[in-house]
Amino acid sequence: MKLYQLALITVISHFGIVSFANSSCIGDDTGFCELGLSVFQPWCWGYEANCSFDEQLFNRPLCEGSPKPWVNTMEEKIEKFWRQADFGYIQDFLSTISDFCVPRKSHQGHLKCSTNMRYCHSRNLVLDFKEYNFDTRDRFLEDIAERVVIGGDCIVESDKIDMNGQQGGALQSWHRELRKFKTMSMGHNCDVTIERPVVFMKLDAGVNMYHHFCDFVNLYASQHLNRSFSRDVELIRWDTGTLYYQDLFKSVWKVFTSHAIRSLSEFSGKIVCFKEAMFSLPPRMYYGLFYNMPLVPQCYGSGLMKAFSRHTLSRLNIKHRPLDKQVQVTLVPRNTKFRNILNQEELISALNTVGAINLTVIEYNPRHMSFIQQLDQTYNSDVFITMHGAGLTHLLFLPDWGSVIELYNCDDAACYRDLAAIRGVKYFTWEESEALFPQDEGHHPSLGAHKKFTNYSFKLEAFLKLVLKAVDYIIQHKPTVSHHIHTEL
Ligand SMILES: *[C@@H]1O[C@H](CO)[C@@H](O)[C@H](O)[C@H]1NC(C)=O
Ligand SMILES: *[C@@H]1O[C@H](CO)[C@@H](O)[C@H](O)[C@H]1NC(C)=O
Ligand SMILES: *[C@@H]1O[C@H](CO)[C@@H](O)[C@H](O)[C@H]1NC(C)=O
Ligand SMILES: *[C@@H]1O[C@H](CO)[C@@H](O)[C@H](O)[C@H]1NC(C)=O
Repeated sequence: MKLYQLALITVISHFGIVSFANSSCIGDDTGFCELGLSVFQPWCWGYEANCSFDEQLFNRPLCEGSPKPWVNTMEEKIEKFWRQADFGYIQDFLSTISDFCVPRKSHQGHLKCSTNMRYCHSRNLVLDFKEYNFDTRDRFLEDIAERVVIGGDCIVESDKIDMNGQQGGALQSWHRELRKFKTMSMGHNCDVTIERPVVFMKLDAGVNMYHHFCDFVNLYASQHLNRSFSRDVELIRWDTGTLYYQDLFKSVWKVFTSHAIRSLSEFSGKIVCFKEAMFSLPPRMYYGLFYNMPLVPQCYGSGLMKAFSRHTLSRLNIKHRPLDKQVQVTLVPRNTKFRNILNQEELISALNTVGAINLTVIEYNPRHMSFIQQLDQTYNSDVFITMHGAGLTHLLFLPDWGSVIELYNCDDAACYRDLAAIRGVKYFTWEESEALFPQDEGHHPSLGAHKKFTNYSFKLEAFLKLVLKAVDYIIQHKPTVSHHIHTEL
């Protein structure tokens, strides 16, 4: 099976825009239904052994530009991108999963992990918190393995565990938690037994959309490693302390579970037995997916990110409204201390005179707009405009033909450009530095002058030119839109 045996540009356009989110997915655990794919045809993600790439792969990425110096041929370039940011990433993980604790005869217990214990799966797992009371502010205590007994009903491969501790950072692997894994029988001494499958997660900042979506994307990727998207699972936030975890995106958990999120500290002082548990991919791995992600340039459209986007929108029941001839442009002002658009009124009045555009200016402020409403607005936008900041993570939820304008990237060029590339939406940013006016030199709390810590005004002509480029892209790519729209003023 070689990706480069594929025709380059066969875009499979089988997604019914209006109908893809429907309640009939309840009971379907394959993950395809949410994507609007017929369950009667055997689709594949790309990592399965029996996936026929030319007929059944539901999405393929595209590359442009020279393959050199990264690889030699265009085919290799596509494959590289596929392994960095698409389902090839999942395939590479799957190929390294092996036993770290071997089942005993007639017992079902096991611990299987990928290399460096970044993902693990266990049956008949025991966590003994008898001697541990969570009395710390540290979320991911370094020596937790000394204080909590963790084991399972299987025979431990201690040498192998020791050899897989190369990436032991808290948000990089599960090695620090599982390095003292021991053989324990599961039975009469459990204070609590959790029957439902459990997912342990170590989460990044819940107040920042960029970081928190690294959590969600890696959870979705982990579900692919176990090949199950059932919501009848218990999500347990792995936290060795009791510090409050602020989560501004709580409504997203519904995508993954129909039960309330739990936290480890509820088990203080108890021996807890788990029938089945997954340790999901942490959000800040080396060569991780989306945080710290290396990416060959000029490749676009990861199937994994497209699937994540659709899966999320579908399970949150967010629908696309009937397509409109006008280009739906959403401009999101930050209204925070920095990176405001000083001449916003001037720019907005000008956009309002462009007939092809239906402009919505709206602040994504959680006090006035729920996150679900924000996603609904984003998904129903063709062009999404905002300044550099975590809110740009919304680009993951633009429709496939969408485009995003990071009005000014404050010299942080790669972050949202790369995110847009893997999601497969068109990315634009401010290019004319002489047509951009910072309010002052910026005030970083410790570093002094800094481009991210001031406000900007933008020259009107250059702004319009940029927006109209994005609008033209939409007119060429939005399905069923008449091609007779004029973008002149
Ligand atoms: C691959 O095999 C599985 C199990 O036999 C089957 O359910 C699935 O439909 C097959 N997939 C494809 C793409 O043929
Ligand atoms: C893992 O997959 C099995 C099906 O093979 C499923 O029953 C279970 O719920 C999944 N576990 C998790 C934690 O999602
Ligand atoms: C512009 O879009 C909004 C939805 O965002 C819609 O309610 C409104 O009717 C549209 N306006 C026009 C003139 O089409
Ligand atoms: C940027 O704008 C905000 C909101 O108007 C204001 O509070 C802040 O002081 C401005 N920053 C600078 C550097 O002037």
